[in-house]
Amino acid sequence: MAGWGKIRSVADLPVEGQRVFVRVDFNVPLTPARGVADDGRIKAALPTIKHLIERGARVVLASHLGRPKGKPDPAFSMEPVAARLADLLKQDVLLTDEPVGDGARKVVSDLRAGQVALLENLRWSEGEEANDEQFARGLASYAQIYVNDAFGTAHRAHASTVGMIKYVTGGRGAGFLMIKEVEFLSRLLGEVERPFLAVVGGAKVSDKMAVLENLLGRVSAMLIGGAMANTFLKAQGKAVGKSRVEEDKLALARSFLRKAEERGVNVLLPRDVVVAPALDATSGHVVSVDAIPEGEMALDIGPDTARGFGDEIARARTLFWNGPMGLFESRPFAAGTQAVAQALAANTRCLSVVGGGDSAAAVEQLGLSDKITHISTGGGASLELIEGKELPGVKALEDDAPAPGSEQDGGAA
Ligand code: 3PG
Repeated sequence: MAGWGKIRSVADLPVEGQRVFVRVDFNVPLTPARGVADDGRIKAALPTIKHLIERGARVVLASHLGRPKGKPDPAFSMEPVAARLADLLKQDVLLTDEPVGDGARKVVSDLRAGQVALLENLRWSEGEEANDEQFARGLASYAQIYVNDAFGTAHRAHASTVGMIKYVTGGRGAGFLMIKEVEFLSRLLGEVERPFLAVVGGAKVSDKMAVLENLLGRVSAMLIGGAMANTFLKAQGKAVGKSRVEEDKLALARSFLRKAEERGVNVLLPRDVVVAPALDATSGHVVSVDAIPEGEMALDIGPDTARGFGDEIARARTLFWNGPMGLFESRPFAAGTQAVAQALAANTRCLSVVGGGDSAAAVEQLGLSDKITHISTGGGASLELIEGKELPGVKALEDDAPAPGSEQDGGAA
């Protein structure tokens, strides 16, 4: 399988018998009992890992888990991930006791062909997020070949995603998941079949504005739900009661709606919403967006809006969805998000791409994943790609020239 342009696919790297460092994104949610709550990201990396095992590579996997602030913290140990991966691979996964150091070096250098090691949480060291040179060199010393399959972390310029690559002398490339993710998401930025819809929800306008702006010149229509819709409704002059609103983004929302109108892009906002007095309410009731009671807040799109969104989704030929339509994790406010997921799954003629996070979780919980063309494992990374930004973790794979002073270069360092 080819990579893209200057980037090689793992399939084209001479991995046989080599020590191969694979940056994976095993930043997965854990249960209170420290089990893996959702192994989607682990399963998504299996094709690359199995490819390497089958070719007798000595596989060194590395990931971060959570945000442990640069020091060892057992609450963020990769231990549950190693256990789950071993189950899925049906073979041992050797977990090191630290990301770099003598213990890790020993595990890695003792690896035999087809064996798999997992480094302890990269973010147990400050060097990872700081993209520290010494830490990067330490990681690079574990392998002859570098593969990045961590699409979910490709928007971070860290030691394991960028800094170390120039010190790995035997080749670099993208894993199968990385290739699939970038290909599907990039398709949305090229020529696509129309109507092309963007369905955007979630809490904050500020998180999604760059995506909305970049999609404005491409989509036929935008459907906006979730708490961010409240800011747009208020920007249109509606009274939204106690609903969450970003007051400092009202002008931005107004100018966005104006731009959309000038470009002839239909922006559909909720016509009705499910309201309740507080986030922890156990039930809600449906009102028009023109009659949101003063003491209540919108927590989901209403049934009339869900029907309208469903009709649009049924006609779409290309669709990008990111962000839930309401407080999806709370049962009384999950119907809007579920309706969008069901409408999308029912449209079998649509190229459908779902961004990571809650919208992906909704599709999975409803058992509809196999009806979606592509569900991204990346939240922030997929948004940045759709914003039109270059992802540092992808860019760093491009130039396969050896680092100055490296062995391949003559080894003058
Ligand atoms: C994610 O879950 O989005 C990635 O693993 C990146 O994690 P981060 O936001 O902590 O960098």
